[in-house]
Amino acid sequence: MHVTILPISAEHIEEFHRMLDVVAREHKYLAFLEAPPLEDTRAFIMRNIARNNIQLVALVDGRVVGWADILPKDRPIHAHVGVLGIGLVPEFRGKGVGTALLRHVLEQGRKKYVRVELTVRAANTRAIALYEKLGLQREGVCGDAVFVDGRYEDLIMMAIIDRPPALAG
Ligand SMILES: CC(C)(COP(=O)(O)OP(=O)(O)OC[C@H]1O[C@@H](n2cnc3c(N)ncnc32)[C@H](O)[C@@H]1OP(=O)(O)O)[C@@H](O)C(=O)NCCC(=O)NCCS
Repeated sequence: MHVTILPISAEHIEEFHRMLDVVAREHKYLAFLEAPPLEDTRAFIMRNIARNNIQLVALVDGRVVGWADILPKDRPIHAHVGVLGIGLVPEFRGKGVGTALLRHVLEQGRKKYVRVELTVRAANTRAIALYEKLGLQREGVCGDAVFVDGRYEDLIMMAIIDRPPALAG
């Protein structure tokens, strides 16, 4: 299996949107239950491209099978923080593609942000294992922060911090 990881571009938007919808409709991993409308997704991606935000896709045999992004928070006091998101279509999970995507996105994100953070559902043990493998640390638990399909679930907060030496201490 040959995996190519590259910055998202306009030609990937429709495939990205379909993939996002598949993962969202699983109800197990993401914060939304279906993809936003295609035109909203297009506007979001084109804005990220224009702003040089970090948004990568993974391609296998030319097909978009996953994404990873680290996007800025919008308040001035959080300008040093990037929020990480990642996902793969079901048939490409458990084959190392997530590890490759996360390595790439963190390599870029850690140059741009002091703190890279995310929240992950407590039952998502594969994602948590992947994040810990690449150096993210658990910071805390938001009890019952998710309610979906009649069930509550905790969210785990995780982050990796690279404070520049001049600011350390
Ligand atoms: C989370 C996700 C990106 C991980 O990518 P992946 O390609 O499936 O993961 P990998 O095959 O690279 O495995 C990464 C690590 O997870 C762990 N792992 C793999 N399969 C696992 C499983 N079934 N259960 C628990 N841990 C598992 C292993 O530690 C593995 O590293 P190793 O093989 O070096 O030991 C992917 O499974 C996915 O898209 N899941 C659905 C969407 C999602 O959860 N997004 C994140 C929301 S916060």
